[in-house]
Amino acid sequence: MAKPVLVGCGNMGSVLADAIIQKGICAAEELTIVEKYQNPYTKRLSENGTRILENVGDLSGMLDLVLIAVKPQDSESVLAEIASKTDEKTLVISIMAGITLAVLEEKLTWAQIIRCMPNTPCAIQMGMSVYCGNSSVSDQSYVTAQSILSTMGRAFRVEKEIMIDAATAISGSGPAYVFYLAEALKEGAIKLGFTEKQADLLASQTILGSSILMDRSEDSPEELRRKVTSPGGTTLEATNYFDSKNLKSILIGGFEAAFNRSIELGKPKKK
Ligand SMILES: NC(=O)c1ccc[n+]([C@@H]2O[C@H](COP(=O)([O-])OP(=O)(O)OC[C@H]3O[C@@H](n4cnc5c(N)ncnc54)[C@H](OP(=O)(O)O)[C@@H]3O)[C@@H](O)[C@H]2O)c1
Repeated sequence: MAKPVLVGCGNMGSVLADAIIQKGICAAEELTIVEKYQNPYTKRLSENGTRILENVGDLSGMLDLVLIAVKPQDSESVLAEIASKTDEKTLVISIMAGITLAVLEEKLTWAQIIRCMPNTPCAIQMGMSVYCGNSSVSDQSYVTAQSILSTMGRAFRVEKEIMIDAATAISGSGPAYVFYLAEALKEGAIKLGFTEKQADLLASQTILGSSILMDRSEDSPEELRRKVTSPGGTTLEATNYFDSKNLKSILIGGFEAAFNRSIELGKPKKK
């Protein structure tokens, strides 16, 4: 695999750098990072042998593999800087939220471009990434992208870019929905008499155990729920109450609102 260059080493960039080194995509010395100012992540990575540069201009020659992890508001300057260093052999993987393939293609005309939506559990290599490529991406480059993005958890490709907006609404924002449920479990536990510390543990361990159980089980979420729900029992009392309030359709309405917002944020800004 080509030696990667990572542009932007903040929260997500450092996660990506650590994951690709730890999972053996490249050695620390084979990775180059471009980051405007030294930060604790670049300091640690440079101590382990990774080359850190301040500007894209400091890179020599054409780029084979570029990972872009700067904030969307910095995209214009970064894309302008790397444009002259990319050609049809360059694979660019962008994780910038809301920066569409059309925008990336406009600046990086010849490159093979992949747009990816990761999520925060990538930080513990339990993430979910969904990605989509432009028409120039070769089969080999898709294999490369799959290996790189899988270092942070699980990853799959979608054909249509609109599904990146859909993934943003489900897996991108999804951790926040789960934390929202944790908040409700915690508040409910306190209301029922537990201490705050006990309530925290009850909420987080219940979600952790259920997630791992779901991951390891062949059963669907519905089936797993059925196994906890005995006729006339306590769980049924709660889920009947949720159903009477249309909780599931309220949640799905929220996911749709996030999807629509993602589409809106990806539209070109009026100048
Ligand atoms: N965090 C998430 O959960 C998440 C999830 C999905 C997607 N993303 C996407 O991931 C991207 C990165 O997010 P983040 O939270 O990691 O942001 P971040 O912590 O701000 O990291 C971005 C880094 O890029 C640096 N940078 C800016 N312009 C640069 C340039 N021209 N050359 C080199 N480095 C430059 C910034 O330096 P300065 O701070 O000095 O400007 C910063 O250290 C965003 O586009 C975001 O949409 C994030």
